[in-house]
Amino acid sequence: MANATRCLIAGNWKMNGTLQESLDFVDDLGANPAPEHVEVALMPPFTLLHPLAFPFSEKDVRLGAQSMYCEVSGAFTGSISPLMLRDAGCHYVILGHSERRDIQHESNALIRKKLGMAWEHGLEPILCIGEHLEERESGKTNEVLKEQLSVLEGVEAGVPLTVAYEPVWAIGTGKTASPEQVKETHAFVHEELSRLGHDCRVLYGGSVNPGNAAELLACDGVEGALVGGASLKADSFMELIEAAAKLA
Ligand code: PGA
Repeated sequence: MANATRCLIAGNWKMNGTLQESLDFVDDLGANPAPEHVEVALMPPFTLLHPLAFPFSEKDVRLGAQSMYCEVSGAFTGSISPLMLRDAGCHYVILGHSERRDIQHESNALIRKKLGMAWEHGLEPILCIGEHLEERESGKTNEVLKEQLSVLEGVEAGVPLTVAYEPVWAIGTGKTASPEQVKETHAFVHEELSRLGHDCRVLYGGSVNPGNAAELLACDGVEGALVGGASLKADSFMELIEAAAKLA
């Protein structure tokens, strides 16, 4: 059952969205998209952070970034710093997304460094973890997740943190983990987090859409969703928020 007070519906727009499209999205969201027991957040591309900060704050939608570099400023062409994200009004930053791990070859060591910088600059990381299909099929899921969560070793308890379990084979594929797989894996993630001294919210991600959201959000240990494709249109995003509100 989704935890009523902590449920987060977070939309990751990835590399999608022009200024005009994002302003249309804001109009389509309506005046009060976030119901009482659901927290709503969106992670647009960097170019849209400043223009969306004010309209989002008026609607109680938290702003987040999809990535960041692990330095504050300097000769890092093409990178964005935690300070800049705070300056733009971000609350969240996604770290360790599988697209960054796989396409940009981001390592656990780099992710650990970024986590530290996020906390130093008042950002709440959404740490993404998840196994590839061959890892699940060869029974290595827990081993992979444990290794990815090891970036939290030695991190003081109580830091602002959200974890998103996203099986890589379910991202953007239309396939989702079964409720049994979700329950079992979230139980393991919560257990591992508590062994590491962290009692934080765990989201599910991977092809969450209006048709499957209620079932996925209702699974034990799921406290919200990180959503790509279905967050790009205001109407489908709002259906996800409504599904979460019904469980609250
Ligand atoms: P998807 O993306 O909902 O399009 O599968 C999820 C994610 O990458 O966070």
